[in-house]
Amino acid sequence: MQLLRLAGAPLAALLIAFPAAAQQKGPAYEPQVGQAGKDVIWVPTPDEVVDRMLRMAQVTPNDYVIDLGAGDGKIAIAAAKNFGARSMGIEYNPEMAKHAQENVLKAGATGKARIVQGDIFVTDFTQATVLTMYLLPALNLKLRPQVLAMRPGTRVVSHSFTMDDWEADESSSMDGRRAYFWVVPANVMGNWALEVTGGGASEKMELTLEQRYQKIEGSVHLGAAVQGGLRDARLRGFNVSFTYVDGKSVRRELSGRVSGGRMEGSYRADNGTEGRWAATRK
Ligand SMILES: C[S@@+](CC[C@H](N)C(=O)[O-])C[C@H]1O[C@@H](n2cnc3c(N)ncnc32)[C@H](O)[C@@H]1O
Repeated sequence: MQLLRLAGAPLAALLIAFPAAAQQKGPAYEPQVGQAGKDVIWVPTPDEVVDRMLRMAQVTPNDYVIDLGAGDGKIAIAAAKNFGARSMGIEYNPEMAKHAQENVLKAGATGKARIVQGDIFVTDFTQATVLTMYLLPALNLKLRPQVLAMRPGTRVVSHSFTMDDWEADESSSMDGRRAYFWVVPANVMGNWALEVTGGGASEKMELTLEQRYQKIEGSVHLGAAVQGGLRDARLRGFNVSFTYVDGKSVRRELSGRVSGGRMEGSYRADNGTEGRWAATRK
């Protein structure tokens, strides 16, 4: 009852009722660069690196940016304020998380950016369309299986540290500092039943793809003993493209999208024909 009455009381009345509480403010929390964190210390990413990281990922208002190990919240805040994205920062240190949330308030980014206190190895970040991090090589490696299991097309940017043998799609440098960029690739490894249609004809063949992260190579089965190799095979998120020369010396350039066990798209051949193609996983 007491609480209910207080909830409806005007602020002035509360200040009269609890003058000491209103005035008793401890010293503001001042994080120290280099202070210990659970798995890595706090060192903020410089502004120009934050800006480049978010530009490498081509962040738009349609994105949901999650910063793993948010520190003072600067990446989540920049994503919201400068790029119009929704964002979340995950910070383990409770005082730091509170400080970062206050920074969100001060920046006027409430509603777009938020900071949660949590452990990056426990808190769910799978809904991100863009993932940012400034951690350590070993932490990137530990996170890598989870990152690779995210939706194909998710963009990932890391300040300073790589993902071991998952090579970056881009690296940018700013005043001696480096940021790395990846797109989570779809899984296309294996055998596919490919059908190419156009110009009144339809051809069916087997497509075999080998995959290591975003790098693919493969072949199409062109006859009893002929495996025609793929040229310019490329996978970027869920976008796939490759070229082959068919059994009649025609070069066909296929491009399309992967969605689970199906791929489809259009092709263009060097004899002037165009058409569609689709493949289903065998
Ligand atoms: C190098 S700082 C980067 C801060 C911010 N992302 C930036 O780039 O400015 C790493 C941050 O991760 C936090 N941290 C360390 N281990 C963590 C964990 N397991 N879960 C969440 N945050 C963690 C640290 O407290 C620190 O604030």
